[in-house]
Amino acid sequence: WNKIGLIGAMVEEVERIEERLENETVTERAGIRFREGLFCGKPVVLCKSGVGKVNAAVCTQILIDGFGVDAVIFTGVAGALDPSLDIGDIVISTDCQQHDMDVTPLGFPRGTIPYADSSVFAADASLIALAAEASEKLEQGHTVQGRVLSGDQFIADRNTVKLLHEELGGACTEMEGAAVAQVCAMNGTPYVVIRSMSDKADGSAHVNFAEFTVKAADRSFRIVEHMVRSM
Ligand code: ADE
Repeated sequence: WNKIGLIGAMVEEVERIEERLENETVTERAGIRFREGLFCGKPVVLCKSGVGKVNAAVCTQILIDGFGVDAVIFTGVAGALDPSLDIGDIVISTDCQQHDMDVTPLGFPRGTIPYADSSVFAADASLIALAAEASEKLEQGHTVQGRVLSGDQFIADRNTVKLLHEELGGACTEMEGAAVAQVCAMNGTPYVVIRSMSDKADGSAHVNFAEFTVKAADRSFRIVEHMVRSM
């Protein structure tokens, strides 16, 4: 790996990496700050994309054609969909899909992008393996490999959780992963999303999110740190 793109949506998701960046050069593009430097001795470009799929997509495309990254790792927090996941537990993406892509009135299944070859974007097997290895070593919490569902919606409702888990097979839900995944697929760039659960996307999600985001973001950070060391 020559240069690794690291993305988080919010300050809590990138600050631990930012503090450790060495030889930093900052460039601003599309209103996003890209921080080139060394993290764990490896060349990386770190950015805080902002929340949501459009921010994540723009950020990922700039990382790829503006900075020449050859892998993208997304780090952050999510709402759990898989009932076996507790707050603090970890999801490593096997693939990502947009749960809010909804053209059902025209007969397309929920989450399907009309006329596209695929609507589910697979993560890179070697990045998944590195993340799994890191998570196993760190023993921070139960870790599952599964589908990350993204939408421009904060999910805080049990019925939606059930639907997203049962109909679309999501392990967790957040607001950026599938955008990063789709842009990476369009460019042939390997990616993986690492998410620690800040909440269970239910009626308590807003309270849990406020309380647990820092702790969950830290767990995700530790996995990324461990991964980058061995890349
Ligand atoms: N990120 C963290 N928790 C989330 C939730 N419940 N819905 C969407 N994004 C999230």
